[in-house]
Amino acid sequence: MLNYFYRPEDQRIFTGRQNELEQLDRHLLGEQPADLHLSGLRRIGKSMLIKEFMLRHADDQSILSVYINLEELSETPEDFVVKFIGWQLYWLYGKGETLPLPYLQLSSLIFQIQNQALRDALVPLVHELERLRPDRQMLLQEAFAFPALLAQVTGRRILLFLDEFQEIETLTNFNQAKNVLKLMRAAKDRAANVVWCICGSIISEMEAITRESQSPLFGQFSHLPLFPYLRAESSELIHKFIPDLDNRLVGLLHHYSAGSPFYLVQLLRRLNLFAGRGETVTENLVKRSFVAETLSPGGLIHAYCTYLYNISLQRAKGYGVLRAILDLIAINDDHMTQSDLARQLRMTQGAVRSNLKELEHIGLLHQRNRRYFYIDPILRYWVGYVQHGIEVPEFPGERDLSAIMTELDRKYQQAATELGESREEYVRGILRRFAGQRITGSLFGIADEILLPCFSKVIAYRSSDGRIEIDALCEGSETWAVEVKWKEKSAGRKELESFMGKSVGITTKNWYVAKRGFTVDARKYAASYGIMLSDADQLQEIVDILAAIR
Ligand SMILES: Nc1ncnc2c1ncn2[C@@H]1O[C@H](COP(=O)(O)OP(=O)(O)O)[C@@H](O)[C@H]1O
Ligand SMILES: [Mg+2]
Repeated sequence: MLNYFYRPEDQRIFTGRQNELEQLDRHLLGEQPADLHLSGLRRIGKSMLIKEFMLRHADDQSILSVYINLEELSETPEDFVVKFIGWQLYWLYGKGETLPLPYLQLSSLIFQIQNQALRDALVPLVHELERLRPDRQMLLQEAFAFPALLAQVTGRRILLFLDEFQEIETLTNFNQAKNVLKLMRAAKDRAANVVWCICGSIISEMEAITRESQSPLFGQFSHLPLFPYLRAESSELIHKFIPDLDNRLVGLLHHYSAGSPFYLVQLLRRLNLFAGRGETVTENLVKRSFVAETLSPGGLIHAYCTYLYNISLQRAKGYGVLRAILDLIAINDDHMTQSDLARQLRMTQGAVRSNLKELEHIGLLHQRNRRYFYIDPILRYWVGYVQHGIEVPEFPGERDLSAIMTELDRKYQQAATELGESREEYVRGILRRFAGQRITGSLFGIADEILLPCFSKVIAYRSSDGRIEIDALCEGSETWAVEVKWKEKSAGRKELESFMGKSVGITTKNWYVAKRGFTVDARKYAASYGIMLSDADQLQEIVDILAAIR
């Protein structure tokens, strides 16, 4: 089932994402469905999550899932319209079990349609498309209205998955298509029994579409971010490839994959190839697999980094300078500031700043405490070698790699935060959804029920001298300071003390969120100072409740 769309070998290794699947169920299938924005970096597993969801509901006759990857269809508005409609018909009739080509060409499309009403609806569109200068506004309107027609004709709820949604912006380069998002919004407002799930890898562009007040799609979607694997999820996936691998090596693989399921799968495949050549899986072999996958031209991680590097820089202005900056950050063992970069590149601070902004915007770097980090530590490692002409054999022996292996731990450093949107930003997103809801105090580690204030402003605060940073400073009827710690250790008293030191006098309430909870000492301290505390599970419950109350 769905075999052309979701390869059986991928179906077999699908791992984790239980919570996200539940969220999809709740948002898309509930009585009062909500449109969703699924976000996450490239290769974090967004498309696979959608495919798994579709597979699990393939027999559900009350819905029709339609998957469209906009990366494959935004060439011209005319082409977009044919394919946008064609994919919907493919999912109705082809069901992911046949090849889609006949549905994606205007000449054959109409012959695929068995339903009279649908065919009648398409005739004017086909005529329009055959004209020398078709009316693009009309074409786009018809295309965006099509899901509602499909819902009406089939009597099913249409779940419209639009993958790599940010690519819709390419249409705005064409005359008569500049308002494409506005047309979409109008159709979306009118459509009955259609639920939208948009998905994208370029975080800054997706945020501009969903969160900026001048965007026609502002505030239209509930946000579901996809994060890297936790160790337990990596471990589950690892054991599907190597059933009896010991804990230490599991930890090492998790470390070298940076929590990315894609990197992990590639490392595991390479390890198994080595094992097939008679080698035993040891710490050294894990490291050699990492190096071979990343630095040898035959490695898929190598190929992916090449692709990611090129495609990201294509989006950006000022190719040469950006490359120079990325190089410097990759090869320097110390974390670099803007002034460090300006000095080494002999450029003005202003010029470096605007280039760094661009690199943040296209999702390659992020900044914390005025230092710049790669978001993806593996890409950093790749740039450090391959952009300097160093590559290794596909199946290196121990002796081939001695220099690279001694440098490995120094060169491969995980950035200060995990891959992807930072947890701090995630928590700020949650705080922005507070709007007078009543919620049990136990989720905040206190006895009384609390009334969540409605904040007018939620920001990452930094004092002008740069000495004080607060992950979220929230202003409104109350002022809250919020700190987020996403480490594998529980937070201790010292951390709470330093948090209180920063926020004293500014705020009415303090909330500390720590993934692994708090030590006994920290709890005592929090109780005497009235600090609210939540761990990862409690945070998730808060998110669930906010979603349910909406
Ligand atoms: N839940 C998962 N279980 C197992 N492997 C996964 C999972 N998610 C992603 N992967 C691996 O990572 C690859 C990239 O995932 P994909 O969904 O295409 O990422 P995205 O759409 O976010 O760019 C997949 O082909 C698969 O090998
Ligand atoms: Mg994808």
